[in-house]
Formats: sequence, structure tokens, C-alpha cells
Amino acid sequence: MLPNHFDDDVAAHYDETHAPQFDPVVIARTVDLLAELAGDGAALELAVGTGRIALPLADRGVPVSGIELSTAMAERLRSKDRAERIPVTIGDMATTRVEGTFRVVYLVYNTIGNLTTQEQQVACFANAAAHLEPGGCFVVEVGVPDLRRLPPGEDARVFSHAPGYVGYVGYDRYIDLVAQQAESHHFRAEGSHISEVRTQFRYVWPSELDLMARLAGLALRNRWAGWDRTPFTGGSPSHVSVWQTAAG
Ligand SMILES: C[S@@+](CC[C@H](N)C(=O)[O-])C[C@H]1O[C@@H](n2cnc3c(N)ncnc32)[C@H](O)[C@@H]1O
Repeated sequence: MLPNHFDDDVAAHYDETHAPQFDPVVIARTVDLLAELAGDGAALELAVGTGRIALPLADRGVPVSGIELSTAMAERLRSKDRAERIPVTIGDMATTRVEGTFRVVYLVYNTIGNLTTQEQQVACFANAAAHLEPGGCFVVEVGVPDLRRLPPGEDARVFSHAPGYVGYVGYDRYIDLVAQQAESHHFRAEGSHISEVRTQFRYVWPSELDLMARLAGLALRNRWAGWDRTPFTGGSPSHVSVWQTAAG
């Protein structure tokens, strides 16, 4: 049984605590790329959450389906306007199958890391590939591990104290450099009450993702530093990668 870190309380505050990710500019760039890749085909979002990307992508005319582990997150999505357009299957994105094939399958906002073993991440690539039509694309947005920034003897990096987060800060602690395990600590302040949510994640390098894609029969088509499609370099803190199946 996979741990579900996105319970009712987290789901209730998700959109507000992740406000920078809901910035219309961020959403428009993300949706521009996904809509372009989808063309006149359909899209499947792994870990669809509260519909941050699925709903605006559907607004562009793309039929979107989702897989989501947390019923609380799926219920938040269902409570939104016109959410009935997005069929959501509750389950693990590494193994859950939905009906049909898709032009694009996507997994954004570092969520590949929520699968905390290499085996699960490999299975997720295989599952994404199994949902793709010939020539279809799998898109992943994920950070590059931050290890180079850690001075000797330190094991943690603050990842957010940005303006725009409402009383929200967080840091990542690297706990196992062999199994590539880390833990995010998210703090939310409401008045004098501070709550903490910890989520374990498996950080993964671009080259390892390319190998997982290859095992799933996919080849790298693009790698950018972000949704604005700037070039990816050795100094990029994150990437948006697109792998493609062979055309039929
Ligand atoms: C950071 S949120 C991202 C949600 C949405 N994709 C977005 O960009 O706003 C991570 C989501 O992944 C879901 N999740 C985590 N592990 C999962 C798994 N194994 N299968 C399906 N969903 C999963 C969580 O429940 C949560 O909704």
C-alpha cells in the first residue's frame, strides 16, 4: 500500500499553498506545450491532483483523463467548475490502467519523485508508454537533484520561502545518497498555528530517466529547462523532458 500524503487537510489547502504554480503565466506555458503535443488527440495526466493543469488543458479543447492516488485531491478536483469533463481513476500511476490510448501522457511538478523506488519509477514509465498511441509523447517535469549546492556536512536545502507562498516555507533533506532518498518538509502557518507535512521522494537524474524511457520503448525528443522551452544546460535546476514512442 503506497503512502498517501495528500489527505483532506492537504487537499483543502493545496491550491492556496502552491499559489506560484497556479500563476496564470506558468499555467499558460505548461498548457501551450501540452496542447501542442496533444494536437487533435487526447491527454492523460498521471497524478492529476486538483486539476491545476488538467482543467485549463481541457479548456483548450483537449480531452483529458487523470489517474490520482488521493481521493481527497480527486474530490477537490470534482468540486470545481466543469470538472465532470475530466474522468479520474483512483489508483497508483505506476500500475493503474485506464481505457483508451492517448497522444500525450504527462506527469508534472516533480511528482515522479513520489514514487520512492527505482522499480516504481521504471513501472511508471512502462505504464505511461502502455497508454500512448504510436508517435505519442510522455512529458515529465522534475527538478535536477540539488546535491551540488550542499556544502560538506550539510544535508538540507530550503526550496521555498518565496513571496507569494502564504505563510509557507519548505526544505528538502537528503537522507540516503545510495537509494536517492530525500524528504520534503512543508510548513504552513495559519495565525499562530504551524503545521508540517513531510513527504519522502526519490530524486532522479535526467540520464536515469532517459534509461527508464528507453526500457519502456521511448526515445528522448526534447529536453528544456522549463515550460518556456529555454535550453537545458548543466546548470539548469529543473527540466521538462519529452520522450516519444516510435511512429506507427
Ligand atoms: C504535487 S501534487 C501535483 C498535482 C498536480 N499534478 C499538479 O501539478 O498540481 C502530487 C500529486 O500526486 C499524487 N500522487 C502521489 N503518488 C501517486 C501515485 N503513486 N499515483 C497517483 N498519484 C499519486 C498526490 O496524491 C498528489 O495529488
